[in-house]
Amino acid sequence: MLEPPLSSWVLVLLCKLIGVRVVAGVDTTAVTLAYISYELVKHPELFKTLQEELAKYTDVDSFKSTELEQLPMLNAVIKETLRMWPPVAPFARLVPLQGTTLGGYHIPGNVHSLNSLIAGTYRP
Ligand code: HEM
Repeated sequence: MLEPPLSSWVLVLLCKLIGVRVVAGVDTTAVTLAYISYELVKHPELFKTLQEELAKYTDVDSFKSTELEQLPMLNAVIKETLRMWPPVAPFARLVPLQGTTLGGYHIPGNVHSLNSLIAGTYRP
């Protein structure tokens, strides 16, 4: 089989890198915003409280991100939505060679473990 020229490999690599970043940054945020909207429609009383908290911010120049970090309702809505609907629900890790203990269970080293965020953020 013919090897593609180096420039083709560079192009493929760049596409992969950009693709991963787009999915990591855009998809997660879009899914989270969709679930925030869903939960707020289901809980109009919380929506109203959030609206009141945000009422003084009229456009993007009217707030600093450090200020938004201090808003209790906004942060509660974001954190609770991420807990209930984590957009990256399963994630994989390679266990270190010496193995580890998770929830009282021994996991042998050098194996791939697939972890569920939902299992950790809901009561069994
Ligand atoms: C609600 C929004 C987001 C959530 C829930 C989220 C979740 C995650 C999680 C769970 C990981 C770890 C994955 C793993 O190691 O198995 C991760 C990694 C990463 N995320 Fe996000 N993410 C979000 C937004 C973003 C945004 C906006 C960006 C970029 C602008 C971004 C870029 C990345 C990158 C580059 C990594 C890999 C970091 C590394 O391994 O060194 N994420 N994200």
